[in-house]
Amino acid sequence: MISVSDRIVVFTGAGVSTESGIPDFRSPGGIWTKFDPDDFTIQKFLRSIETRKKQWKILVEGGLFSSVRPNQAHYAIAELEKTGKLDCVITQNIDDLHQKAGNSPDKVFELHGNMKLVRCLSCDEQYNMEYIKEKLKKGIEIPDCEKCHGILKPDIVFFGEALPSRAKDAAIKHSRNCDLLIAIGSSLAVYPAAFMPVYAKEAGAKLVIINIGETPCDELADIVINSKAGETMARIVKLFGDPKGNRTPVTGVRGRCPDR
Ligand code: APR
Repeated sequence: MISVSDRIVVFTGAGVSTESGIPDFRSPGGIWTKFDPDDFTIQKFLRSIETRKKQWKILVEGGLFSSVRPNQAHYAIAELEKTGKLDCVITQNIDDLHQKAGNSPDKVFELHGNMKLVRCLSCDEQYNMEYIKEKLKKGIEIPDCEKCHGILKPDIVFFGEALPSRAKDAAIKHSRNCDLLIAIGSSLAVYPAAFMPVYAKEAGAKLVIINIGETPCDELADIVINSKAGETMARIVKLFGDPKGNRTPVTGVRGRCPDR
């Protein structure tokens, strides 16, 4: 499928970063088994100082992805860009790992924002998360804007917030225009992000899902590979890049195999 495609969209979720040590949300032991998603609504964040204190504490305890590095899945997706066949990466992740692995930032659309930045909700002043982390480490429980003392919020999408329109519009456009969408490490449970594989299929693209767990789009997919993202993507990109075209089978494949 990769060899006959030239506008490939890779769509990723938290499952592509678990092998970097960042827990996903809905697997056993995932973030929503430890924290209440209801605490992460924009309404609660704005409404109470207590909630803001709690959310900054959770974000700090979560390590704010301090020392995480890309894993072989991220590097394989960056390799795919070098072939000239990758149209873009659409990610729900906020960890910046696709860019760290080498994907061009202008080819990565972040539907749920990025933890690198913190923004003032009053004057839009921006701060690096590293700078804010230093303040939190010195015991400040709720950082506020140094310019206007407004509320500071990580530049990520909370529940109840609209997705950044530029990223969302681009994701829809590229999903509707690709010839292959590979969805990796997502339960495809959260909308409108989870519409992207549907838009791709509606536009006549092939759909491949690489995910340990089942997803609501499995029946729609041309191929489902229930295996770990890192080893699977590394083998696929190696296979594709193998001039002799050796075909060592990728484990866990089910669904209709395309005519070669
Ligand atoms: N390899 C392949 N799949 C994996 C791996 C792995 N190493 N680790 C986990 N998975 C799978 C899990 O089986 C699960 O189906 O990745 C999926 C991750 O699903 P979620 O935890 O629901 O994460 P995601 O789909 O990204 O969630 C979407 O929900 O809470 C919001 O904003 C949050 O962006 C997030 C959105």
